[in-house]
Amino acid sequence: MRHVLDIDDLSAEELRWVLDAASQRGSPTVLDGDGVALVFEKPSARTRNSMEMAVTQLGGHPVTIRDDEVGIDVRETAEDVARTLGCYHAVLAARVYEHDKLVRMAAVDAVPIVNMLSDAAHPLQALADLRTLADEFGPLEGRSIAYVGDANNVARSLVLATVAVGMDVRVAAPAGYGFSEADRAVLDAAGARPLVVEDPAEAVAGVDAVYTDVWTSMGQEDEAAERRRAFAGYTVDEALMAHAGPDAIFLHCLPAHRGEEVDDPVLDGPRSRVWPQATNRMHAARGLLWWLAEERGSR
Ligand code: CP
Ligand code: NVA
Repeated sequence: MRHVLDIDDLSAEELRWVLDAASQRGSPTVLDGDGVALVFEKPSARTRNSMEMAVTQLGGHPVTIRDDEVGIDVRETAEDVARTLGCYHAVLAARVYEHDKLVRMAAVDAVPIVNMLSDAAHPLQALADLRTLADEFGPLEGRSIAYVGDANNVARSLVLATVAVGMDVRVAAPAGYGFSEADRAVLDAAGARPLVVEDPAEAVAGVDAVYTDVWTSMGQEDEAAERRRAFAGYTVDEALMAHAGPDAIFLHCLPAHRGEEVDDPVLDGPRSRVWPQATNRMHAARGLLWWLAEERGSR
């Protein structure tokens, strides 16, 4: 049984298949009669709506469940939540704090598990990011991208995804906010060795795309003031974008904290592709669920 906890759960060929599927506007109703459970331990606008729409477009029925309704490791173990929801659904997608909960749910092989964001990874976002980059540039091999800010869940999946399609990837993060040892081990195992520097201008020099995410992720709210201090100088503004290539685009997974990691002129400016990127969340989700349905059919 296949699970998608991060981008490295897909081979290069499977990644291509999902991205091709995401570019198709009509899709077969491969989830006809199937349920897909969407469990959220944290808030969501894009992920919930894009997944619900994608399931519906594939002919299935999405059931969105807040964590207090199932209580992963509270009412019952993560493993038993997977076993239970596997009785009714073709796929269980979950947004959790601890990535390990997804690992444990996947380990029982009761139902395919899809990560809708954990503290470690955000593969559905990275699929949409690749789709957006490919819509803009065509073939991505040899293109370059700089991620500026916190080396977080979004950054890890973005690096795995962009390296997998042959992009040159750089990351600029302040000391203490680069990739954790655990993340570096995952990236290393996938052959992803991005250039990691502290100077945003160095990372951004000449690149085709600049990407950022919030400095304070969900669950880190207590650290917000400290993080604002640590990330001073990391705002993606027009002065920083001027170091990028002449046709460089700007990407952000959203939600944005305007005036922190990005300012309004960049977010709302002509280089910004954040709304097509948000739209691609739905197409990418549909591509991935379609692939999972094909996988099930071939078992
Ligand atoms: N980018 C993203 O995952 O957005 P939501 O948190 O709104 O789902
Ligand atoms: N890094 C952010 C991404 C939100 C989509 C978070 O985890 O809150």
